[in-house]
Amino acid sequence: MQKATITSIQKFDRFTEIIQRAFSVTDDADLAEWYSFEEAQRSLDSKKATAFKATLNKDLVIGVVHAQPESFIFGREGRNKLQITNIGVLPQYQRRGVGGKLLGAVEKVARQKQIPKVIVHTNPDDRRAVGFYLKYGYKPVGIIEDYYYRGPAQFFLKFL
Ligand SMILES: CC(C)(COP(=O)(O)OP(=O)(O)OC[C@H]1O[C@@H](n2cnc3c(N)ncnc32)[C@H](O)[C@@H]1OP(=O)(O)O)[C@@H](O)C(=O)NCCC(=O)NCCS
Repeated sequence: MQKATITSIQKFDRFTEIIQRAFSVTDDADLAEWYSFEEAQRSLDSKKATAFKATLNKDLVIGVVHAQPESFIFGREGRNKLQITNIGVLPQYQRRGVGGKLLGAVEKVARQKQIPKVIVHTNPDDRRAVGFYLKYGYKPVGIIEDYYYRGPAQFFLKFL
């Protein structure tokens, strides 16, 4: 496969569709229950968040990621963790390093903004997502039972 190019995005033109297609083959395909694309777009509009797309041949979007400081309400504590809210790669392009490149772009932004940690949580039964974060140096830091409306969440931290 040709190398994917990673670029920053300000508008969610293809984001929603890519995430929906990435999750369509998972147990978490009910995105409307746990993700607001409208809020994510608002976070980009307010410049608080960051998002990237991975493209092939300039305009074929095959993956996306969105991240934002965990919370501004918690002052330094909330600003010091960049939280990945969503990441997805189209099923036919997975396991070729595209997800890793998207994570790398988020981590670069964190370093530039002197944010020391990246945090993400996911379903601990999702072997693919868990394997993915472990592969890229994310440390499993705990499972919270009943965190999600239908089960536990596993938290991962990467110290940059
Ligand atoms: C998670 C996701 C973004 C990874 O994208 P990707 O482009 O495949 O990522 P990479 O190619 O950089 O890394 C793949 C790694 O993930 C892990 N992985 C992938 N599929 C796996 C599986 N079935 N079982 C265990 N680990 C798996 C492996 O560590 C793999 O590395 P390897 O191919 O060298 O073994 C992609 O699988 C996806 O979109 N999944 C659906 C949406 C999702 O679950 N998002 C994350 C939820 S928080």
